[in-house]
Amino acid sequence: MTEKQIITKVYEYNSIDELEEKDKILVERAKEITKNSYSPYSHFRVGAALLLANGKIITGTNQENAAYPSGICAERVALFYANSEYPDVPVLSIAVAVKTNFGFIETPAPPCGSCRQVLLETETRFKTPIKIILAANEKIQIIEDAKSLLPINFDDSFLKSGSK
Ligand code: THU
Repeated sequence: MTEKQIITKVYEYNSIDELEEKDKILVERAKEITKNSYSPYSHFRVGAALLLANGKIITGTNQENAAYPSGICAERVALFYANSEYPDVPVLSIAVAVKTNFGFIETPAPPCGSCRQVLLETETRFKTPIKIILAANEKIQIIEDAKSLLPINFDDSFLKSGSK
């Protein structure tokens, strides 16, 4: 038996002012776009903003549905739109912000499992790490890539490996 340890580094900031300029802009866009969230059921308004390698910023919000499972998270709305519109352009970073009826949340909310899987696919597809910036009211957490959020993961290498 061998034991393996996996270390995930999370960089925590107490204020947006501690971020570099392009990350600040992305957080501001993610916060701003929460207003477009369609979340009449959860009232959990999520905004995502992606920075692409061509300098464009793509935003997305969560879209809910009366048939609950038909809804989709903000991160995947933004990622799928970016990959549809710019299929050859790597995603460099994503900022995520959440607003409830009480204002922006106090603790940054990490992406759900499905969004982590899609972030990983995008990262693998473009062979470019995606910096993940999770924004709360003041606190910010940064994780350096999607793989760190999903360290034991399923990717296309398993599909190619076949079975013996
Ligand atoms: N949600 C997101 O948009 N992103 C996440 O990573 C977590 C959850 C949305 C889905 C649903 O509309 C609401 O937040 C409550 O789960």
